[in-house]
Amino acid sequence: MNYSKHILCIGAGYVGGPTMAMIAYKCPRYRVTVVDINPARILQWQSDDLPIYEPGLDDIVRSARGKNLFFSTDIETGIREADIIFVSVNTPTKSFGVGAGMAADLQYWEKTARQILNVSTTSKIIVEKSTLPVKTAKAMERILSSTTNGVHFEVVSNPEFLAEGSAVRDLENPDRVLIGSRQTPGGLSARDELVEIYANWVPPDKILTVDIWSSELSKLVANAFLAQRISSINAISSLCEKTDADITQVARAVGMDTRIGNRFLNASVGFGGSCFKKDILNLVYICRYYGLNEVADYWEHVTRINDFQKERFVTNMLNVMFNTLAGKRIAMFGFAFKADTGDTRESPAIYIAKRLLEEQAELVISDPRAIDNARDDLKDYLPRVSFTPDPYVAAAKSHAIALMTEWDDYRYLDYESIHRSMIKPAFIFDGRNVLDHRRLFEIGFNVYPVGKPVLTHL
Ligand SMILES: NC(=O)c1ccc[n+]([C@@H]2O[C@H](COP(=O)([O-])OP(=O)(O)OC[C@H]3O[C@@H](n4cnc5c(N)ncnc54)[C@H](O)[C@@H]3O)[C@@H](O)[C@H]2O)c1
Repeated sequence: MNYSKHILCIGAGYVGGPTMAMIAYKCPRYRVTVVDINPARILQWQSDDLPIYEPGLDDIVRSARGKNLFFSTDIETGIREADIIFVSVNTPTKSFGVGAGMAADLQYWEKTARQILNVSTTSKIIVEKSTLPVKTAKAMERILSSTTNGVHFEVVSNPEFLAEGSAVRDLENPDRVLIGSRQTPGGLSARDELVEIYANWVPPDKILTVDIWSSELSKLVANAFLAQRISSINAISSLCEKTDADITQVARAVGMDTRIGNRFLNASVGFGGSCFKKDILNLVYICRYYGLNEVADYWEHVTRINDFQKERFVTNMLNVMFNTLAGKRIAMFGFAFKADTGDTRESPAIYIAKRLLEEQAELVISDPRAIDNARDDLKDYLPRVSFTPDPYVAAAKSHAIALMTEWDDYRYLDYESIHRSMIKPAFIFDGRNVLDHRRLFEIGFNVYPVGKPVLTHL
């Protein structure tokens, strides 16, 4: 088949896989190849058991794969044949040297750039899909312009705003697609090529074209704002608990103000996921680099409040369960960092599980999709932690349930039978405020939500 464009994506992760599947699905004229250094991951993308769970993803992968969507480990051939290369490798927080614990670790990104430089024999557009520190494109251009063989690379920024758990919906109907480019003839022409791809299904008023530095920075700022809203409501939840106010009612009253809006105002055990913390810390690092210490301090506190919220949850459990958790069995309902994903990266459940284990509790972890990742996260704590997809099995003979993830499944369980199977007094700590607290109380549970009055028989 004659394809009108060859698109390559380097990095077949939570972003690379779904974004390229959507492009292939919406643009049958393009050949889209996704490559990765991890052969096991590529094998999974080629199978019926995809490496990530996202509602709706199986269907779009199945309909495009083998026609115009391909997964491969042959990175060099992919690079040589591509007109446009999206780079979607991981950019974790640096764990060593200067900037350890704060700055982005750009080694994977730089290795990719050098590989593109070494292998390419024709000019290409390089798209920053990974989340990167502002000004990364400059470093990238320097590396990529060190060739003398006449090959030219135009770097554009196209950060991804999908949320895990709703990735397919977000990609199909995005709030906006952001494309940042140099304002030179070459930059503008590369920008237009990218616009042309998205214009296959995204309305023109949702495709935002900006300068390259604003694009890079906007992604970090968007995540910082989202995380800040969560930390803001969580900070107030702690005050609600001291003053008998109810965080749900406060959030509703505040969110009905159209200047504020009602999204992202659910108090919880804290935010997780691979991006929020790392992107805020990256922003903090950049601010400090430019001597903006007050600005850095401001954003750093968003992550501190998140840590405070997780620790508060554990100390509350300890206090109300008579100041000892040693030998007590606790069922954790959910381990993924949010519902509708199997991803546990930076999940608050990891921190809470480890703290409960430090208190010598015995844990039974239940999750519909994240058991494999949970087992890996807690591999050093076996055999004091066990795993089951069945929440009824997890709860049986437990002293307490700690709800960590807002999976719909947990709302509709038979809590009467769960209560009968538990050790009394039975405790339930709702870390997402999704359960019917009054009903649980009537069944006999001692109920501890976040930022709301407790309902206890003790
Ligand atoms: N996960 C999200 O929800 C999300 C959302 C928006 C943006 N992002 C950003 O997108 C980027 C990717 O995130 P992710 O969650 O998909 O990460 P991921 O870890 O799931 O995937 C990255 C993939 O890149 C591969 N890789 C690393 N170096 C490589 C190389 N040199 N050649 C080929 N493959 C290589 C890894 O093997 C891995 O499979 C990050 O910068 C992240 O901040 C993530």
